[in-house]
Amino acid sequence: MRIAVFGGDGIGPEVTGEAVRVLQALGLDNLELVEGDVGGAAYRKHGNPLPPETLAIAKSVDAILFGSVGDFGLDHLERHLRPEQAILGLRKELGLFANLRPATVFPGLEDLTTLRPEVARQIDLLIIRELNGDVYFGEKAIRVLPDGRRQGYDIMSYAEDEVRRIAHVGFKAAQGRRKKLCSVDKANVLETSQLWRDVVIEVSAEYPDVELSHMYVDNAAMQLVKNPGQFDVVVTGNMFGDILSDQASMCVGSIGLLASAALAEGTMGLYEPIHGSAPDIAGKDLANPMAAILSAAMMLRHSFGREADAVRIEAAVAKALAAGVRGGDLGGNAGTREIGDAVLANL
Ligand code: NAD
Ligand code: IPM
Ligand code: MN
Repeated sequence: MRIAVFGGDGIGPEVTGEAVRVLQALGLDNLELVEGDVGGAAYRKHGNPLPPETLAIAKSVDAILFGSVGDFGLDHLERHLRPEQAILGLRKELGLFANLRPATVFPGLEDLTTLRPEVARQIDLLIIRELNGDVYFGEKAIRVLPDGRRQGYDIMSYAEDEVRRIAHVGFKAAQGRRKKLCSVDKANVLETSQLWRDVVIEVSAEYPDVELSHMYVDNAAMQLVKNPGQFDVVVTGNMFGDILSDQASMCVGSIGLLASAALAEGTMGLYEPIHGSAPDIAGKDLANPMAAILSAAMMLRHSFGREADAVRIEAAVAKALAAGVRGGDLGGNAGTREIGDAVLANL
């Protein structure tokens, strides 16, 4: 089990540090951890947010545990040098196209979400976000028009094979759950979305046991707070999935709880909390490491087939929460390390 640990910026190293402690506590006899620089930290050291040495490590391991990248002090750089290019580059270079972002309410947290408890209690959903295409990776620039005005543009596109492969991930995930798949798009306005919808419908013929529905993204944002219990698996594009998953995190209590897996074909995966580097709380022992710890559980499940170990970690997090352990994001005052200790004690 050769695992790269890329802590990155801000709270990234703090939360991955706790996830590593949990992994180590499992007593796996073949665990090998390799560290690497990414993001703003890598830029400041090597002049490159994703140095070749880091990429070489990424290509040599079985899985990656990722913290977060982002450094407001570097936002003036040309785009290809910005910290965020590290995560975008890894996703693209390693073909990590399928992003699983599950959201469920842990028992005891129903009163801590910003939804009413009876609404929040229903949430058990999985957002499957496409990660290699969309407006994220199209041609983009700020150009000067002939009349002298500046114009920014980003080309949005999806090729049918890109939609097909993520649709299959969505249908298969639904088969293993409540057999409901909701495809979220903006087909009433965007041609990219019309093709998305057409292809998802084509693929659905292979999954007659899954109930497929379609929803426009604006309505989906509304339904997610109105009646989130209606969703089982949601499949959507890169940008809509980014936005809806942050929203889903608040529906279950905090962004400090949401883990994710970015999967390639096969067993390679990158595992990271959905949150960012949180510069406002970095270095203050205020970050909730549970999202990172739960990401390590997803790694054991998806890259190493160690379901029992994954469940063990998830149960330890649930027990710590049930016992009242709360970071500042959940209205408590437990520090990062203290939360890590609580999870370890319940492992
Ligand atoms: P953010 O997710 O970093 O923070 C949003 C808010 O949530 C902040 O108030 C923060 O304190 C809080 N928060 C986030 N994680 C938390 C945790 N574990 N515990 C407690 N509170 C937590 O989003 P942002 O402020 O929009 O972005 C900050 C930087 O992170 C930017 O540079 C952005 O580009 C980057 N970013 C990176 C990733 C990634 O690496 N995958 C994801 C999102 C944002
Ligand atoms: C995420 C982040 C990234 C994204 C940024 C940092 C590039 O917001 O992982 O959710 O937009 O994918
Ligand atoms: Mn995001």
